[in-house]
Amino acid sequence: MQKPAHTQFPVHDLIRNRWSPRAFSNKPVDRAILATLFEAARWAPSSFNDQPWAYFVATKDDAVNFAKMLGILVEFNVVWAQAAQALVLAVTRLNFQHNGTPNRNAFYDTGAASALLCVEATALGLVVHQMAGFDAAKARQVLQIPDGWEPIAAMAIGYPGSPDSLPEQLRERELAPRTRKDLIEFVMSGRWGHTSPVVSEVIVSGTIT
Ligand SMILES: Cc1cc2nc3c(=O)[nH]c(=O)nc-3n(C[C@H](O)[C@H](O)[C@H](O)COP(=O)(O)O)c2cc1C
Repeated sequence: MQKPAHTQFPVHDLIRNRWSPRAFSNKPVDRAILATLFEAARWAPSSFNDQPWAYFVATKDDAVNFAKMLGILVEFNVVWAQAAQALVLAVTRLNFQHNGTPNRNAFYDTGAASALLCVEATALGLVVHQMAGFDAAKARQVLQIPDGWEPIAAMAIGYPGSPDSLPEQLRERELAPRTRKDLIEFVMSGRWGHTSPVVSEVIVSGTIT
């Protein structure tokens, strides 16, 4: 199933088609394909080229580590994420490697790396569903994450599955339309709250799809 974005301006198909489903196919994902996702993350830009990201990954055939990763998720996410073929946890280093001072862009950079991972996944026919719903303290303990590193977000990865595989409530969410704020709400110029003419003057009426 696909849920392409209804955009106000045309965007690349990879952006249009990326979305976060909860239904996964039981088709395994090759290790080389998963490695490719981390390669995409690796080439993200970062402040001082610090590359503050680190990722845990567990594939379904690695039952022990898969159970470990599943065990840190909140129950709502376990329900559907257990069907994924790989579970991932993104972690960030809070201080710069070169001088040990706080890196205020660590989360930003790790998010950028994860965004590239998601785009690469889309290009490979995979789906990624990111999750803030996990127990960070438990992740730190179970995965032995050292001080100075912060777990940020988990991800469920796999090939797309049928919404019919989901329980009723989740199936409804799976089929619901995708929504976004309007461009004019968040693109500003000059002062806070002043919509930029870059978007306001070209959006004449309605939505361009
Ligand atoms: C950092 C982050 C945390 C998220 N946490 C959860 C989560 O815990 N559970 C969940 O079902 N979806 C989670 N999502 C998925 C979002 O709800 C989803 O990305 C958003 O509704 C937009 O939908 P789309 O990705 O299909 O465009 C998360 C997404 C991100 C980026």
